[in-house]
Amino acid sequence: MPNLTNNLMFWYKQNKRKFPWREKKNLKNPYFVMVSEIMLQQTNTNTVIDYFKKFILKWPNIYSLSNARLNEILFFWQGLGFYKRAHNLLDTSKILIKKYNGKIPTNYKDLINLPGIGEYTANAILTLAYKKKRIGLDVNINRVASRLFNLNIKDKKKIYQKLSYHLPNKKTDDFMQALMDVGATLCKKKITKCHYCPINNFCIFFKENKQIESNIIYKKKKKFLFIYLIKFKNEIILREKKEGKLLNNLMEIPNYLFNKKVSLEVAKRKAPLKLNWKKVKGKLNTKISNFDLETIFFETELKKKFFLKDSVWVNKNKLKKIPISSLMRNFLVYLNCF
Ligand code: ADE
Repeated sequence: MPNLTNNLMFWYKQNKRKFPWREKKNLKNPYFVMVSEIMLQQTNTNTVIDYFKKFILKWPNIYSLSNARLNEILFFWQGLGFYKRAHNLLDTSKILIKKYNGKIPTNYKDLINLPGIGEYTANAILTLAYKKKRIGLDVNINRVASRLFNLNIKDKKKIYQKLSYHLPNKKTDDFMQALMDVGATLCKKKITKCHYCPINNFCIFFKENKQIESNIIYKKKKKFLFIYLIKFKNEIILREKKEGKLLNNLMEIPNYLFNKKVSLEVAKRKAPLKLNWKKVKGKLNTKISNFDLETIFFETELKKKFFLKDSVWVNKNKLKKIPISSLMRNFLVYLNCF
């Protein structure tokens, strides 16, 4: 009988996106589901593919992960961003060994108390790994469902409730991933392909003729990052990166982020020290997930070495061995340090 669930499940069989974490053997392994879902929290699917494959080879189970050193994981994490996730994965693996016999809990209450596991990830693990009658509301599913039922995108409780009526008794993992794929391929934020959508018959957004076929250009916010490179012979100064109030073991070049364009004079005042700063020619534009970043570089060559609080001198030849985000690594390449 055609209904929303059947239509969606049928469509998924023919149209699902293939990813390593979706392979049947991997979906049966709750540890793999947890790792992939944490990687996918803030990173796009194409980037995660190789990291996921390598991660599960390097740390094939919770025991091996719990014995890893933090620096090793941070080093691995370079290029994925949001390094707090790497700290959390290690902390969580240790708790799982200590408190849960190395098993990933099968209930929401225990899952949500683990570091790095929020509402979405707890539900995603229960649905994808344990096939519970639940659903993790990620941004794609949330958007699809808010259009489908004409609900406010922020009203997650109502969205969850409405979607729950349509959850199948079996294969809730397919149901969840099908909705994700509708969101990622048809019901996108800025453009919709409603005529191809398997559930358009049930969709208020479609019925009200709201489909977005023209590509509206959304202007992203722009931020301005100033980098201050201090050099002495073959060494440069790096400092420990703070995320919020926490140090996270990653190193970075001293820098300052402005939310609006400022003059070079203003930017120099935010340098870690008053030195003879020279502007490096050019600038670098980078697209970060929700803003565009323009980076401008200053450098200075010291005649005498000194020590700066919370910072270390690093020989350029040793940079490869230090955990540095890929954004910072690009800056170091730009500055001829790599
Ligand atoms: N994002 C989060 N979880 C995902 C999954 N299982 N498949 C594709 N994208 C995802």
